[in-house]
Amino acid sequence: MNNISQLIYLLGGTGLVAKKLKIKPSAVSNWRKLNKIPKNKLNAILSLSSQNNINTDDFLPNHNLDDFDFKILLIISGGIASYKSLEIIRLIKKANIDLDVVMTESAQRFITPLLVTSLNEKKCYTDLFSVEDESKMNHIMLARRPDLILVAPATANIMAKLANGIADDLASTILLASFSQIILAPSMNPVMWSNLATQENYKKLLERGIGFIAPDVGDMACGESGTGRFPAPKVIFDKIISNIITRKNIANQFKNVSIVITAGPTIENIDPVRFVSNRSSGKQGFAIASELSRRGAKVTLISGPVNIPFPKCANVIQVMTAHEMFEKTISQLPTDILICCAAVSDWKFVPKASATKKIDNKNKIKKTNEELLFKTIKNPDILSSIAKSKLRPNLVIGFAAETDNIIENAKSKLVSKEIDLIIANDVGENKVFGQDSNKVFFIDKNNCEEWAEQSKNAVASNLADKINKIFNTADI
Ligand code: C5P
Repeated sequence: MNNISQLIYLLGGTGLVAKKLKIKPSAVSNWRKLNKIPKNKLNAILSLSSQNNINTDDFLPNHNLDDFDFKILLIISGGIASYKSLEIIRLIKKANIDLDVVMTESAQRFITPLLVTSLNEKKCYTDLFSVEDESKMNHIMLARRPDLILVAPATANIMAKLANGIADDLASTILLASFSQIILAPSMNPVMWSNLATQENYKKLLERGIGFIAPDVGDMACGESGTGRFPAPKVIFDKIISNIITRKNIANQFKNVSIVITAGPTIENIDPVRFVSNRSSGKQGFAIASELSRRGAKVTLISGPVNIPFPKCANVIQVMTAHEMFEKTISQLPTDILICCAAVSDWKFVPKASATKKIDNKNKIKKTNEELLFKTIKNPDILSSIAKSKLRPNLVIGFAAETDNIIENAKSKLVSKEIDLIIANDVGENKVFGQDSNKVFFIDKNNCEEWAEQSKNAVASNLADKINKIFNTADI
């Protein structure tokens, strides 16, 4: 029996693994035959193995992360389990991952910075006010450098500090000053864990996107038993590796794929002072641009005037009017994927004094007692024109902001604009514009999925998953 066969056998056999991973048994049989697990299923296998307490070291070749530049910061806070973090350091070092370690004052009551320094072969940071450290690797650098911050063990105290924005030592200051993903592995007395204060902090942190490696249930060093035990260091390490592998796969998901995204509102001038626009904030389009860039796509974002920071992406082009947006979008063709999120002004407005008399709108229109009329001139439909053009991208996605008959209206736009997918939402009563969450319907030619209300970032991530399924061929 080869290594992968043995591992599958220990995980319950082909059928069970296939069921757990929601894939066909024939795919698992193939892995056994080829003695290889495809990259995109490796993290699922790692997490299944750690759930079953199976050490994957004997079955899987060393996690090949060498070409993936990844930095971890481990924060050790003070609990009886602090000494177990030494094993986590050893495992991370063995995997050749760049590691810095910070210890809180109470952690130093259990283990010494000298011990950590000798294990990690690198200075262990402890002091926020160290003149020497601040001049070399200051607390902001320590916060910004890592791709992932692991707090293990995380005490009730450090959870409370993070949940409430307290920054009174090096560890808590770093946590507050970081953009990196933060994962906490809590460990504490079961009563402290179940205390409402801790549970409220836990919930608050979860809602803010902080990751958790849940504490185990069992006998504690303090003599009590319940939930609060620090999981085995190998389990924590495997979860971190699986997180890194997921990120590595994701970072290459849309490699060499060009994507053009329109976002935000457009404005149509009435005169040099006044204009007509709409309530679009650009948040959903920006979240999609950011998510697809994170997954390796070369994203060009064409944005109308917004009041939010631009996301990190290859190229941002700012426009004002629908016409400018049309021209700039066309200028980016050919592209692999087009996503039109912008709320484009459907008309230009030409002011008139009467049915026949035009007004000079080069200067501010003067207020008179006469009626002010407008002739409306239809703007080009960017989405539809490109979908019907010779330079049609392989995948064309639109949005439909509706106030009534959402699904029917969106479906008819999908057909009339000749696009592949449409994401429809109800924008009545200020439900979506400017908000951080969105409730959408995901519609293609055959199906309509209702997605639960979620953050615009989550919509972006789910949409990216869908696009990945459609655009990239599965590599099993
Ligand atoms: O027809 P409607 O404006 O409702 O269609 C919405 C979709 O069409 C959105 O994806 C929007 O970005 C796109 N659109 C466009 N150009 C326009 C009007 C809408 O690209 N002039």
